[in-house]
Amino acid sequence: MTKQKWTFENIPDLKGKYIIVTGGNSGLGYESVKAFALKGARVVLACRNMEKGEKARLEILKEKPTGDILVMQLDLASLASVKAFSDKMMQEFEQLDVLLNNAGIMATPNVKTADGFEAQLGTNHLGHFALTGHLLPLLKATPGSRVVNVSSLAHKGGKMDFNDLMFEKGRKFRPMRAYGQSKLANLLFTYELQRYFEARNINSLAVAAHPGGSNTRLANHFETNPFMEWVSKLARGAMQSAAIGALPQIRASVDPGAQGADYYGPDGLGEIFGHPVKVGSSAASRNKEDARQLWEWSVRKTGVAY
Ligand SMILES: NC(=O)c1ccc[n+]([C@@H]2O[C@H](COP(=O)([O-])OP(=O)(O)OC[C@H]3O[C@@H](n4cnc5c(N)ncnc54)[C@H](OP(=O)(O)O)[C@@H]3O)[C@@H](O)[C@H]2O)c1
Repeated sequence: MTKQKWTFENIPDLKGKYIIVTGGNSGLGYESVKAFALKGARVVLACRNMEKGEKARLEILKEKPTGDILVMQLDLASLASVKAFSDKMMQEFEQLDVLLNNAGIMATPNVKTADGFEAQLGTNHLGHFALTGHLLPLLKATPGSRVVNVSSLAHKGGKMDFNDLMFEKGRKFRPMRAYGQSKLANLLFTYELQRYFEARNINSLAVAAHPGGSNTRLANHFETNPFMEWVSKLARGAMQSAAIGALPQIRASVDPGAQGADYYGPDGLGEIFGHPVKVGSSAASRNKEDARQLWEWSVRKTGVAY
């Protein structure tokens, strides 16, 4: 007997659930917002550009006119924006069932966030670390709530260099080196957050997911010359759709069978494509000492204590 693939049809009824998706206007975030809204959740589409967010909302409403989607401004590359967004959420919401930390950038040049952080670690990890910390009271107030962090196969090439996490003290900056580090940080954070929940008997789960290779705008920064643009377009054409690529993070968000520190990815060859199943992550991602160090460093950098 062949095993059933997990698909959109497996998503349970989400009526009464409150879900935040960061970077909800594009790619995997957009597909996640759409799936949650179609299943009846109240979804906050958090985005840095309100125009893009509104456009995405209207697109989804074409499919489900009664979809409950709130577009809200959130720039993860600014701690002030993260705080302002969280304050609004705390004022307007009394529960939060899922915080899907999806937004991300890849292979950017060595630029800084508003707070002077290396852009990829600053956006992909520190922004989400601060956001999760601010929203903790809502998560704690919602039994069975989840934090889902979106990592990548690229975490396997990542290395935490605690002497120079921001490439400021002589460590050579390479765009994909910084990306791999930020995606490893997503997993270290997930596993440490699960330990944090367990140590305090908090009825919440920390879970992670990765989409394999999915056709989105993520690789836009590669397109620096016509040849690379052509290569990038070719590669994207061979990738799975964002709708399929989003299934691991959707499953991590809503599957009743998920457990703390689970990691979901595609079931196909090399986890590059396919339907979501529980997958393994690198030994480096399971390093408890690195996870603790990253946590303490993140508290110092963001000023957000849990
Ligand atoms: N696609 C893949 O094959 C792949 C593989 C592995 C992992 N991932 C991960 O999947 C996640 C989603 O990426 P995607 O593939 O869907 O790419 P995408 O289409 O480029 O979407 C990324 C989203 O993140 C948002 N974002 C970027 N910087 C932000 C900031 N400072 N504040 C708030 N939002 C911000 C973008 O907003 P704008 O529209 O304003 O730019 C966009 O909505 C990322 O975490 C990525 O690392 C993707």
